[in-house]
Amino acid sequence: MTNAPDSEADLNITPEHPPATVHPSLRRIVLTGFMGSGKSTIGCLVAAHLGWTFLDLDAHIESRTGLSVPDIFAIHGEPYFRRLESTALVSALGRRNTVIALGGGTPECLTNRLLLEQTPATATIFLDAPFPDLFDRCVLQGISRPLLADPAVAADRFARRRPLYRSLAHHTIDTSALAGPDAAHALIAALAAPLKRSR
Ligand code: S3P
Repeated sequence: MTNAPDSEADLNITPEHPPATVHPSLRRIVLTGFMGSGKSTIGCLVAAHLGWTFLDLDAHIESRTGLSVPDIFAIHGEPYFRRLESTALVSALGRRNTVIALGGGTPECLTNRLLLEQTPATATIFLDAPFPDLFDRCVLQGISRPLLADPAVAADRFARRRPLYRSLAHHTIDTSALAGPDAAHALIAALAAPLKRSR
């Protein structure tokens, strides 16, 4: 099963409701946030609404290496995964009309943050929610995530990363009370105006 909408009917695209648009200066939309924040689900919906490509950084790494993210962690360790992640980010930011879902840890690396801040025409959106909500969502998804094995350590990571997500973001969307489609609409609406220079 996939979270991607199947058809234009699913997106309610009709002659009365044409495909959505964002400000014409934008070429990339980057979604950041902790594990379970909805980056892939919401990113897929936003891309479908705009008629853009969706790129999930983890999926990109998995298809390049032929290994799942948990296997990369288990076989090669986290530092190796982080190097692959930085390379994947450079390649993703070279694309146009693309919605990019980062991994939850991508912004921990200063080089990645500088890349995100300095790539023109690129909007960064932080999908926020309280840690207990995110943790529960991850448990419900049942996807293996190596860094969630110990909830207390995961909570520390969240606290350390949240200021980084915030400082990178042009916009923050609180997803705690929003279903995926509503969050996708809120995101698109926030990007109708040109990006402000200050974050
Ligand atoms: C990680 C998040 C995961 C994946 C890897 C490490 C992290 O991505 O990149 O397990 O450090 O938070 P999601 O945020 O898409 O789950």
